[in-house]
Amino acid sequence: MSTHIGAAPGQIAPHVLMPGDPYRARWIAETFLEDPVQYNDVRGMLGYTGTYAGVRVSAQGSGMGQPSLAIYAHELFAEYDVETIVRVGTCGGLSDAVKVRDVVLGVAASTDSAMNVPRFGHVSFAPAADFTLARIAAEVAEERLVDLVAGGLFSSDQFYNPDPDIARTLAGYGVLGVEMEAAALYTLAAQHSRRALALCTVSDHLLTGEETSAQERQETFEDMIVVALESIVR
Ligand code: ADE
Repeated sequence: MSTHIGAAPGQIAPHVLMPGDPYRARWIAETFLEDPVQYNDVRGMLGYTGTYAGVRVSAQGSGMGQPSLAIYAHELFAEYDVETIVRVGTCGGLSDAVKVRDVVLGVAASTDSAMNVPRFGHVSFAPAADFTLARIAAEVAEERLVDLVAGGLFSSDQFYNPDPDIARTLAGYGVLGVEMEAAALYTLAAQHSRRALALCTVSDHLLTGEETSAQERQETFEDMIVVALESIVR
């Protein structure tokens, strides 16, 4: 096992779906994977492995925020040889280019986090998605009539941001949505030469004040999981 994941070598698949909420990992495993086996419950951060269309896939919770995600993503890449992590989460809409229930494909992730300062010093690294995986996900979404918009994410350390203007500033630069994890995931994938992608359903909209109902969130989330899984197996 690694420090935070209680799996034996080989128990985790090369491709991992990573929701923030560990109960979502359980739901993904029970709803979409055949023969799911739980491999982790350390700190309640549930992880499962099963198969989708005959391909081994794992679902591993990340917790909220970049420090938490970074622990799990690091251990998956460094200690379990995971090749692909697709974050499947939610974001707040920042731009009128997206509406609630859309899926945002994060081509890049800006951040207010200081996590990369010790890595790059004064250089501002640009965390970006794996292009091939992103292209496939966009194709799958189009085929399945899922409303997917590709563009920038803002990975914020603050859910309750004390600076309300930052959303407008970033929207002016084409950033579509705010979430809390993608930049760390993309940075770690780059460090380990692995593939990563963040897909986020728009659960609320910071410009319009629109919110989704629990039922709407569930339905959109399901569509997004299918896009993620089909992209992995294609
Ligand atoms: N995830 C969903 N909505 C969000 C928001 N408004 N801010 C940060 N992360 C989010």
